[in-house]
Amino acid sequence: MKNLKKHSCWNLRALSMTSSSLLVLPLLLVTNAVLAEVDWGKIEAKPVTTIYAGVSSWEFMKDKDHGTGQPVMKKGKKSCAECHVSKEGKFDINADKIITGELKKLKSKKPFEPNPIQGVSGFKDVGVQVAYDAENIYMRFAWADTGAGGEQPAKLSVQFSNKLKPFRLYGCYIACHDDQKGMPKGIGKDKKLYGHYTHKKGEVKPQEKLDKYLSKGQFIDLWVATLEGDKVTLSDEYILESRIEDQNDLSATASFKDGKYTVVITRKLNTGDAKDTVLSDGAKVDIGVAIHHKGREGVQHYSSFPVSVGFSAEADISAMKL
Ligand code: HEC
Repeated sequence: MKNLKKHSCWNLRALSMTSSSLLVLPLLLVTNAVLAEVDWGKIEAKPVTTIYAGVSSWEFMKDKDHGTGQPVMKKGKKSCAECHVSKEGKFDINADKIITGELKKLKSKKPFEPNPIQGVSGFKDVGVQVAYDAENIYMRFAWADTGAGGEQPAKLSVQFSNKLKPFRLYGCYIACHDDQKGMPKGIGKDKKLYGHYTHKKGEVKPQEKLDKYLSKGQFIDLWVATLEGDKVTLSDEYILESRIEDQNDLSATASFKDGKYTVVITRKLNTGDAKDTVLSDGAKVDIGVAIHHKGREGVQHYSSFPVSVGFSAEADISAMKL
């Protein structure tokens, strides 16, 4: 079952259609028997702004290149949004000049984007809707894009964490480092995303420390949907000392129509896998959303500041209880 699911893409509509044909797919029904039909028209779509930040790593945040942001970041109290988003929701990051390679870092004068992209905005809004029932979470993401084609498919990634304060303040940025592949000090290396707290002086901490983080849920859960038109391929991963694939507990549908991607991803609130964030009624979780434009891979993507999702709990996005 594990292997079967890993390389497949499940289609919610197809699942509900097969729900009567027990003889055909008995295994599949054991895990997905109780998926609800969600009426998305009744659920508010919250816009989540994703930003093209180039090679703005965790190290950049704590460097003189981050100007007056630097000393405050070192204290670990203020979030990215507290400094960079106005009360009206306006972002002051010069993402339009980052993506074109125009913006240089304050002190080092190095470009925020060494491989510029011309003719596209530095921002991308993603409409996020969330619902849940006793068993599952249902998340719907919609954004404008150019669709299928090109060498690299488009990608939607969602990071989750509910046991890491730095993630609540800084989101995905705690996992993004200079020594990773494609980043300023990682060119040619094979290093992937990792939590800043899992390393000390550039070295991975001892295994027993990592085991402790994992047992306390102090990791980032990661869902990745790779999109080619209406085809979606899912990968269920987590980030601790590296980015690692775990048992695939996700199912999804995707469509590309009128210049817009829509992706619905479903998972059990509690999958039983120690490498998945446990979600529950009355609780909340912080998420970060990232979009890889078609034709771009690796570090070249848009990512959001962290936003919270509440399951009947006060948060930026309220999940509707079905
Ligand atoms: C204490 C306030 C503060 C916090 C917290 C903060 N920043 Fe900044 N940030 C700044 C300031 C001020 C600048 C402008 C520096 C300059 O050029 O003078 C800046 C610049 C930037 C830039 C360069 C682009 C530009 O338009 O100048 C990026 C990218 C950025 N910050 C991202 C982030 C992210 C991501 C976070 C959270 C992980 C964050 N910042 C947290 C204050 C902050």
